[in-house]
Amino acid sequence: MIKKECLDIVQSKCESCQDCVLGKTRNNVVFSDGNPETARIVLIGEAPGETEDETGKPFVGRAGKLLNQFLEEAGISRQEDLYIINTVKCRPPENRVPTDVEKALCERYMTAQIDIMNPKAIIFCGATSLKSFWGDKKVQISKVRGNWFSVNVNGKEYKAMAIFHPSYLLRNHSMEEGSPRRLMQHDLSVIKAEILGDKQVCSTGSFNQELAMV
Ligand code: URA
Repeated sequence: MIKKECLDIVQSKCESCQDCVLGKTRNNVVFSDGNPETARIVLIGEAPGETEDETGKPFVGRAGKLLNQFLEEAGISRQEDLYIINTVKCRPPENRVPTDVEKALCERYMTAQIDIMNPKAIIFCGATSLKSFWGDKKVQISKVRGNWFSVNVNGKEYKAMAIFHPSYLLRNHSMEEGSPRRLMQHDLSVIKAEILGDKQVCSTGSFNQELAMV
């Protein structure tokens, strides 16, 4: 099966999911954006906000527009190079941080997406997604961002990097040397050079339908 067919199976399950309270208040499940057949990077944000809940697409509000600017400047194509997802697929009321229970109940959709995509790298955009995969929850994004590390998803190791969340950059406008915006430019340029430097495609990964659907 091609990636899109496998992802469609997961998406249709996700769209009828009522496992946690977020299912009661969402307008739309926000499953993904990007072309799964060409994307070599999975970028994981936190959770949908108001505009994402209205449109069903991740990172389309103010933060998403700023992310687009940084991606464009780094020469990373949002539609071709990235498959964008969130740790939870439904909007938490008032944009609060998703709870551990909500993240745990939604995790199987995210790990199925990663399994299927079999990406060259995973980018954790912000602290919430980073903490979902980093054993020590006290990890600080400002300490680990910009460095490659390895994460294990369903028994497979992936190259990974954390970057700042664009909402944080919306509150930090400085372009001084060492500022969060300058560090974001730096991190994306490393990702572009080291992951997207060649044209190699990623094959479809293993997809354990039973594991994803229980
Ligand atoms: N912030 C996120 O983390 N994800 C989105 O989709 C939008 C805003």
